[in-house]
Amino acid sequence: MIAADIQARTAPLYERVRRVIPPVEWPAFAEDIDAILTLKRERRAVILAHNYQTPEIFHCVADIVGDSLALARQAMAVEAEVIVLAGVHFMAETAKLLNPEKTVLIPDTAAGCSLAASITAADVRALRRRHPGVPVMTYVNTSAAVKAESDICCTSGNARKVVESLGVPRVIMLPDEYLARNVAAETQVEIIPWTGRCEVHERFSPGDLRQLRADHPGVVVLAHPECPPEVVAEADYAGSTADMSAYVARHAPPRVALLTECSMSDNVAMQHPALEFIRPCNLCPHMKRITLGNIRTALERMRHAVEIDPAIAAPARRAVERMLAV
Ligand code: 13P
Ligand code: SF4
Repeated sequence: MIAADIQARTAPLYERVRRVIPPVEWPAFAEDIDAILTLKRERRAVILAHNYQTPEIFHCVADIVGDSLALARQAMAVEAEVIVLAGVHFMAETAKLLNPEKTVLIPDTAAGCSLAASITAADVRALRRRHPGVPVMTYVNTSAAVKAESDICCTSGNARKVVESLGVPRVIMLPDEYLARNVAAETQVEIIPWTGRCEVHERFSPGDLRQLRADHPGVVVLAHPECPPEVVAEADYAGSTADMSAYVARHAPPRVALLTECSMSDNVAMQHPALEFIRPCNLCPHMKRITLGNIRTALERMRHAVEIDPAIAAPARRAVERMLAV
């Protein structure tokens, strides 16, 4: 049972998510949502949420939502004193790099990323020794220490543009091997990849995609560029999470499948009730560590504040800012 005042205050929010959250589940969320909205005002805090956050976070407590690029850009424009990053650790670090004077909280410090875990700063230094003079372009899905060893960062939304902005014939692109190969297929620049993989997107196969088309005739398939190149080659479109969302808004395909993390389809489907979403998705265990419960605790106890060694922060910030300037 929800208290009558909480029920009244949260009823308009339930309207936003009623198609994916059954009424019986709402009481479990409503109290935390109500408390978080109060805490945000008290702490002068904003919540930035990635597109892979669950609908009760994405649609009910977040102030700013988007892909990694949008979150990095918006983090710079935030006026609040406190930023809660509902996403994974590298996103919170990026927000802190761009807002060193603000408090940036991550509700669960164990919300990592298989790509960020695939490479260390020492690996980047070894790559530079192997390819002297070749610039290093680093996906934002990395630690600040790895960014600090890099010339420039990129996201899945701007990788090709950033690589071509460098005006050189060869670029080291790390750590996602598949993103690197997908970018290499679109540019004349020679790309030297690393061997990292996203544990969510590497699991999609061309066989899955063909089965999907056989089971759901006419389906339009959108794939994230962290998927294997063989999957991207057979998809109708590939783009970042924001690009996929924009594609759906622009083309309104009557039947669509997003080959990416599960919450993405839930969040986009709510904005397009007339479209049929086929959901052959994979869950990201790291994104799913963030819950209403630990967002509430983060704001109550002002934990876990992200801190970055200043010696790392300065060069890492330069690499991110250089990307944002492209
Ligand atoms: P984008 O939101 O930038 O497309 O990234 C997807 C992702 O996997 C982030 O962890
Ligand atoms: Fe990392 Fe993949 Fe999860 Fe994104 S979806 S946080 S790239 S493991």
